[in-house]
Amino acid sequence: MSFITDFDAISAESKYVNILLWIIFGFGVLKLTTLTLRSLALLADLFILPAVNYSKYGAKRDNYCVVTGASDGIGKEYAIQMAERGFNLILISRTLSKLETMKEELVKKYSIEVVILAADISKDSDDNYKQIREVCENLPITVLINNVGQSHSIPVPFLETEENELRNIITINNTATLLITQIIAPLIVKTVRNSKQRGLILTMGSFGGLIPTPLLATYSGSKAFLQQWSTSLAGELKGDNVDVELVLSYLVTSSMSKIRKTSMLIPNPKRFVESTLKNVGRRCGAQERFATMTPYWSHALYHFIIEETVGVYSTIVNCINYSFHKSIRVRALKKAERLAKQQ
Ligand SMILES: NC(=O)c1ccc[n+]([C@@H]2O[C@H](COP(=O)([O-])OP(=O)(O)OC[C@H]3O[C@@H](n4cnc5c(N)ncnc54)[C@H](OP(=O)(O)O)[C@@H]3O)[C@@H](O)[C@H]2O)c1
Repeated sequence: MSFITDFDAISAESKYVNILLWIIFGFGVLKLTTLTLRSLALLADLFILPAVNYSKYGAKRDNYCVVTGASDGIGKEYAIQMAERGFNLILISRTLSKLETMKEELVKKYSIEVVILAADISKDSDDNYKQIREVCENLPITVLINNVGQSHSIPVPFLETEENELRNIITINNTATLLITQIIAPLIVKTVRNSKQRGLILTMGSFGGLIPTPLLATYSGSKAFLQQWSTSLAGELKGDNVDVELVLSYLVTSSMSKIRKTSMLIPNPKRFVESTLKNVGRRCGAQERFATMTPYWSHALYHFIIEETVGVYSTIVNCINYSFHKSIRVRALKKAERLAKQQ
């Protein structure tokens, strides 16, 4: 009698073990399948699919592309490469002389219309937004590139961040980006309505926003904000035929990054923008995110590997990021000390 009871208990137990093993097996198959599909999509996006054709965004049909932070670095390249694709340009940035030189060169080289607007966006003044509205309201705009951004001058503990720097980062990266989009997006919707064209809004995110970044906490938070905002907006504007994409980037040589030498992981703005514009609408390294792209190939692989292994919010990634930025801070402080002694 007791033997039968034991046997029943064992067989019931092994039934549960079997179910558990099947669940683990099924979960493993699901994980492996999604990983395989994501890897294939990543490789196709980066290395196989042809470049996006900008005629769907109204290229070569007298339409305008607005670029913020257009006078240097990545923004300047966006302007040049959109001109190459046959867009007229509205360039918004801080330094008038740089904008004037750009206008002259672009008009001469590409025979396009270029409107320039110099404004210090960190001021967040009504005048700035009024000027932008006045310049843009009667032009057929199909593309907005929210590129302007500011980071910390050097990595700094949050508790030591100067109020002015903190306010500028939030104003430029967030408030101004939102308010400029509120002005331009309705104009894009108006231009593409009842036409076969689509609109496009690109916003520059950053690995600083993808991965929580100690010692760049305010910048990191401001770029993470853009991820949520831009992806939400993508859902809202889908029905209006406007594609909204957040563009994620690791380091690129520029005056903001203070890096001059390119490497496998650090392209120059030209190569970074080439990959971005070639791949608009494809996730590349951001396979797990809607309306988000990590377009440069080495950034894409880096993003993909972190997401598929430890994850962006893991302790290990946070510790490595902290050490990395701490060493940059130490070097930057030493350099500042050296320069101060020379003066
Ligand atoms: N470089 C990187 O490693 C990197 C990595 C990830 C993401 N990003 C993002 O990419 C975007 C562009 O960065 P970047 O490296 O090309 O920067 P950058 O070389 O420093 O150029 C910034 C541009 O924005 C303009 N600008 C700055 N402050 C302004 C203000 N207060 N008012 C109006 N215009 C202003 C600058 O105008 P002036 O020429 O007049 O100064 C310049 O045209 C930013 O959103 C940044 O966060 C950059």
